[in-house]
Amino acid sequence: MPNVSFIETRNKQSRRLWERSCQCIVGGGQAHKRPVEIMMLGGPSFAARGRGARFWDVDGNEYLDYLLGYGPIVLGHCDPQVNEAVRRQMEEGTVFSIEHPLEIELAETLIQIIPCAEMVMYFVGGSSATMGAIRCARAHTGREKIIRCGYHGWLDWCVPDNPGVPKFNREVSLAVPYNDLPALRKLLETMPGQVAGVLVESVQDNGPSPDYFAGVRRLCDEHGVVFILDEIKTGFRFGLEGAGPPFGAQPDLATFGKAMCNGYPGAVVVGKRSILERRIDTHMAATFHGDLLSVVAALTTIRVLKEQDGIGHFWRLGRRLMDGLNRVAREQELPIKFVGFAPMPVLKPTDETDPVPCPRELRDEVLKQFCAGLQRRGVFATPHPWFLSLAHTEQDIDKTIDVAAEAGPDLKKFLVRGAAG
Ligand SMILES: Cc1ncc(COP(=O)(O)O)c(C=O)c1O
Repeated sequence: MPNVSFIETRNKQSRRLWERSCQCIVGGGQAHKRPVEIMMLGGPSFAARGRGARFWDVDGNEYLDYLLGYGPIVLGHCDPQVNEAVRRQMEEGTVFSIEHPLEIELAETLIQIIPCAEMVMYFVGGSSATMGAIRCARAHTGREKIIRCGYHGWLDWCVPDNPGVPKFNREVSLAVPYNDLPALRKLLETMPGQVAGVLVESVQDNGPSPDYFAGVRRLCDEHGVVFILDEIKTGFRFGLEGAGPPFGAQPDLATFGKAMCNGYPGAVVVGKRSILERRIDTHMAATFHGDLLSVVAALTTIRVLKEQDGIGHFWRLGRRLMDGLNRVAREQELPIKFVGFAPMPVLKPTDETDPVPCPRELRDEVLKQFCAGLQRRGVFATPHPWFLSLAHTEQDIDKTIDVAAEAGPDLKKFLVRGAAG
């Protein structure tokens, strides 16, 4: 672990801006970007600009980016083709009070790519798309309850226990663990005829067990419930069609956002015509739904991913990354491991079944310390799942593995100190 003055010099401007932002932005910044803990360990907290697989912070440090805005950057920061398409569209207009043919072009493209897509609805941001999907499920079934499984956004029904959320949300929005069909069956059986939709994040950690999606489908059919697959994080990364179809999922509806637009906020709900057309009976409109900058960004992103085999690239490079990082962890006997799938590796503390188990009380801290060690050396990664972009190269991956090998001893030192209390 480097000394305090090295850390403070490294992110001096970030620290100054952090103090300033605490005076005017609630919590010092957007909740998910609240950077202060890793900043105190030398990480960046304010970005200056990005390009390709990299960004630079306000102190001039360069980072190889594995968070990529929490997933939307799939081609790379400032992708020239997306920028050009957006620039051209800016010259033509961004939102109108009537439709635009490009909305049809993107909808037709999505219908071609995504097996469950018969129709498309436009939204802004993943939270509004998942909300749209459950609204359709409720309108279609005439029922109110929702069973959710994973993270689906910040709206009331996603976080029913949070302060500020009306209590009735706890009765209409219930959570089940991922991969747990008995729990889902039990919940459906305790509320017969009341559940409108089951919403499942398509991949968590090591993903669906082989019979999971078929089981969800069967239970939804038995109970007359709409099966919604949340592909906001996985769409255009595991496959162009998302992660569900390759794992055998046959949902009624699916939500996509993030990587679809390489950094623009468009999102969609796709699925069965008979369910989505209930939208006509319910007010679900917003000024920026179908905004043309997101639409052209999505058309361009999908085209580039197809032309350059982006999906193959994520699987190939992600595999190399996971293998290399797990090798470093094994060789240095670090209490961390990478699990999950190549397009979205997940950094975890080891557990009792691993050769070097991580002390239970240090699990969160170990991930934070390891990521801080990477950030101090110019690799931007956090305990959140990692993402790749088409701009990442094999050399970038190999550099990351080297950096992890350098950061390992910092983590070991931390553990010695941690164990000493
Ligand atoms: C699976 C999933 N669904 C929904 C959302 C919400 O999307 P947004 O943050 O764009 O509102 C997220 C965001 O991380 C997500 O990962």
